[in-house]
Amino acid sequence: MKRSLKLLVITAALFALASVGLFANGQKESAGAGTAASSSSGKTIVLGFSQVGAESEWRTANTRSIQQAAKDAGIDLKFSDAQQQQQNQIAAIRSFIAQKVDVISFSPVVTTGWDAVLQEAKSAGIPVILTDRAVDVKDPSLYVSLIGSDFTLEGERAANWMLKFMDDHGYANKEVSVAEIEGTVGSAPAIDRKKGWDNVMKDHSNWKIVLDQTGDFTRAGGKQVMEAFLKTGKHIDVLFAHNDDMAIGAIEAMKEAGVNPGKDIRIISIDATKGGFQAMMAGELNCVVECNPLLGPQLMQAVKDMLAGKTLPRWIKTNEGIFPADVAAKVFPTRQY
Ligand code: AHR
Repeated sequence: MKRSLKLLVITAALFALASVGLFANGQKESAGAGTAASSSSGKTIVLGFSQVGAESEWRTANTRSIQQAAKDAGIDLKFSDAQQQQQNQIAAIRSFIAQKVDVISFSPVVTTGWDAVLQEAKSAGIPVILTDRAVDVKDPSLYVSLIGSDFTLEGERAANWMLKFMDDHGYANKEVSVAEIEGTVGSAPAIDRKKGWDNVMKDHSNWKIVLDQTGDFTRAGGKQVMEAFLKTGKHIDVLFAHNDDMAIGAIEAMKEAGVNPGKDIRIISIDATKGGFQAMMAGELNCVVECNPLLGPQLMQAVKDMLAGKTLPRWIKTNEGIFPADVAAKVFPTRQY
């Protein structure tokens, strides 16, 4: 009798241990397999994300990356498209605060004007992670971390590549006239890419920016600006476009005006989208500097880490390359955006 009781207790204990094991396995699986990710309170993590808009190929790839990564991570994403308007982003952030989301993230259309709304998020105890673009705020504690590219470095890379290319094509001691099509006025990439280009060119007095306008990061904007540039009749050797879409728009304008893009006017742009690669393979664009939009997985990881109490780096930088036209055909099949 005593022995059978002992056996019963041992069997029950083994069964209990096995159940604990099964439960632990189940939990591990759910964390990696796209089922709901939960905060310390055990509830599904809710992330409010305000996107700039859909102005470029880069931006739509960025949106897809964030939406897919949220799904994969089991994070409930509240997504809002600001159509390139700061007031829409401010309204979206206020709505996220009212909904008491766990984390707010956004890609700010411009750098300034965020202090008040970010203070509201802070007072509500909701942490903010920036993606892609930086803000200019008085109190640095208004956001936790920025996940994105070094735009100044991108501008420097563009300038250094074009400088060498033009030197190799006999312009080492000749005047080089540059037309620049900038991104959205007041946005971090427009400010920093220009700064990066100027950092390099300040030591090369034969390089002059003779025309400079914003194309708002859109294809239509790039085309319109290039049409206006060509109408001035000024000589242009090089076009520096702050993104591929504006370069592609400018290429259209050149072709319509009988100018040979990539030959009569040498062109460099930033992003390295599939559209940029196709223009290079057509011999119409000379080089692209990469700006990686696939930030979704890093953002979801940062959200989870932060809610688990880990300290995030202040700036999580993206690794990027540079692709001249002569490698375009080989690299194109590997491009993800
Ligand atoms: O902030 C990143 C920039 O915004 C990309 O270079 C551009 O294409 C986008 O619209």
